[in-house]
Amino acid sequence: MLVSCWSVKGGVGTTVVAAALALTLARDGPGRRSAGLHGNGHGALLADLAGDLGATLGVAEPEGPGLAGWLAAGDDVPADALARLEQPVAPGLGLLPRGSGGLRPQRAQALAGLLSAEDRTVVVDCGRLGGPGAAAVIAAASQRSLLVTRACYLGLRRVGAAPVDASGVVLVREVGRSLGPRDVEDAAGAPVVAELALDPAVARAVDAGLLATRLPRSFERTLRSLA
Ligand SMILES: Nc1ncnc2c1ncn2[C@@H]1O[C@H](COP(=O)(O)OP(=O)(O)OP(=O)(O)O)[C@@H](O)[C@H]1O
Ligand SMILES: [Mg+2]
Repeated sequence: MLVSCWSVKGGVGTTVVAAALALTLARDGPGRRSAGLHGNGHGALLADLAGDLGATLGVAEPEGPGLAGWLAAGDDVPADALARLEQPVAPGLGLLPRGSGGLRPQRAQALAGLLSAEDRTVVVDCGRLGGPGAAAVIAAASQRSLLVTRACYLGLRRVGAAPVDASGVVLVREVGRSLGPRDVEDAAGAPVVAELALDPAVARAVDAGLLATRLPRSFERTLRSLA
């Protein structure tokens, strides 16, 4: 199962949703074992196309090519090249780091195919989709394409111009907004499949690099049904 998380406006909480979803799925996996790509282990895999997942989870990212390098390589890249990028970030959870450089779109469909064939659920942080490109190709190829948004007029008015359709919306709820889930669904043309609170404890956990151990139970409960 390939699940993509993306936004149309920066800073809404997309990376935190991707990380929290993958942490939840990794915890739920019966074996909580880390396994290589195409292994038959349980758990989850995070793929970072936006560049903030390592910092969000408080792990140092290795120097090296990452997914950007894989996308830039030729078709003769070794079959295990993707698996070699994976680093363990939490029990049962691996991370494919973004690496530096642009995201070339030519091999994005091939990457989506490999990630879809993975035994574990793969959660991709596609970041803000400003237009066509590798991240949009992967979001469009995902079994679940999740728009992460606030109930924010300035964000919602951009949804129609997004390069992909959402299959569901994750709403990051803020106190005092005049727009609600119905307005979000109308704008996105997709159902709100999860509502998460804007919780200062989450922001503090991210700032401390401790999201993996301090993910609120309410987030886990809400996200469990998403993949
Ligand atoms: N549910 C939440 N409750 C509290 N703080 C949150 C929540 N989600 C995200 N944050 C905080 O908001 C900030 C932005 O979050 P995040 O990096 O996930 O957004 P983003 O949409 O991925 O941003 P970007 O567009 O830059 O990639 C971070 O400081 C994060 O800790
Ligand atoms: Mg982000």
